[in-house]
Amino acid sequence: MVDVILGLQWGDEGKGKIVDYFAPRYDIIARFQGGPNAGHTLYVDGKKTVLHQVPSGIFHENKINLIGNGVVLDVITLKKECEAIASFGIDYKKSLFISERTHLILPTHRAIDRASEAAKGKEKIGSTLKGISPAYMDKTGRNGLRVGNLLNDDFAVQYQKLRSKHQQILDNFSYEEDISASEAEFFEALEFLKTLNIVNGEYFINDAIQKGSKILAEGAQGSMLDVDFGTFPYVTSSSTITAGVGSGLGLSPQKIRDVIGITKAYCTRVGSGPFPTELHDDIGELIRKNGNEFGSTTGRPRRCGWIDLVALNFACMINGVTQLVMTKADVLDKLDVLKVGDSYNINGKETKEIPFQMEGIKLEPGYKDFKGWETDITGIKDFKSLPAEMDIYINYINTTLGIPVKYISNGPGTDQLIVV
Ligand code: GDP
Ligand code: IMO
Ligand code: MG
Repeated sequence: MVDVILGLQWGDEGKGKIVDYFAPRYDIIARFQGGPNAGHTLYVDGKKTVLHQVPSGIFHENKINLIGNGVVLDVITLKKECEAIASFGIDYKKSLFISERTHLILPTHRAIDRASEAAKGKEKIGSTLKGISPAYMDKTGRNGLRVGNLLNDDFAVQYQKLRSKHQQILDNFSYEEDISASEAEFFEALEFLKTLNIVNGEYFINDAIQKGSKILAEGAQGSMLDVDFGTFPYVTSSSTITAGVGSGLGLSPQKIRDVIGITKAYCTRVGSGPFPTELHDDIGELIRKNGNEFGSTTGRPRRCGWIDLVALNFACMINGVTQLVMTKADVLDKLDVLKVGDSYNINGKETKEIPFQMEGIKLEPGYKDFKGWETDITGIKDFKSLPAEMDIYINYINTTLGIPVKYISNGPGTDQLIVV
């Protein structure tokens, strides 16, 4: 049995916290896509910790954490992260497993990412510059190196072959960068990787399912950043939706039971691209400040706006969401009026559908206003104690999406989660 937790917006919905909360109910926590562009925050013994490569179940004893074949792996980041995890007394060598089919991010992938973004100028994607797109391009272009290649005698030869292809690309960009230091670090980290549990991920997970293990698939990024269904080209390069679980872990879609979709009580986006309900005023600024909306991976300020039910409805549809988690409700505590985007006006026509492209068209969201609760909810522990205004706000979301909000997160702390 497999359940999925994924983000329904443009990322940073609070997946790290929610996966950490649900992890005790499962045997295996598995990342199925993305790479170190992800930054998943959780609190361990009260200490803020951000995970980029390792699944968010790593701090729970006797759980297996699997990095699936759909992930792209930066070994330098992985090594640093494992060292940080060990400082909490966690024996990751026992609990961390990596699929041999997982593609490697090379130092030159990161350089190409930087060169490509610089060349795009004003049209840049706003990438995290972690080498995500070049690594996935080498996967679909059938050039990439995988974790399993590392154990082959000719790895160094294959590496040099790919590196010189990358050099040609960098030359084409007239991009110069001395990567010798990060190359040395890369090779050192590869030796570290060899000491970890490298497995045939698809047999590993299917055998576990056969034996009755419960799997939690952890998404990275969000549905609106999906390479097919997001706001292309302002997206990431992987399949961030439920469909990505099958190809990213090597399991059949029939094994998937619940799809837990996470949305913030409002909406954020980091990087470039369309964001219909974005706020450019003091309220946006207030949400950024109260929500501490700065990137977990890059530290960039996140763009903030109202919740967008047109986009959420689309995300629920393509993911088959069965229950919702609403995070960061407390961030709206001080607002007297809350707006909910529930339609788009495109070139004078009202619609509830996401268009093929959002830029280059005249798109205005239609809003419904709600009274804010203007109460500090961060200490509330049970659903009945939540303010009536919040009940109305959530009810509207429930009925519009036709999917129940089952959990409300009212603070970053592990214990700040209210069961509805
Ligand atoms: P992820 O990428 O989806 O895991 O999300 P991030 O970790 O990038 O960003 C979410 C941020 O919001 C983190 O700093 C969390 O600690 C924080 N957070 C999560 N849930 C809540 C919440 O309910 N309220 C508040 N105020 N912060 C939250
Ligand atoms: P988590 O898992 C928010 C955004 C980048 C950029 C675009 C492409 O923490 O929610 P990439 O580095 O993939 O080439 O960047 O996607 N992006 C994210 N935004 N949260 C993330 O991950 C993101 N990962 C990528 O800002 O706009
Ligand atoms: Mg994040």
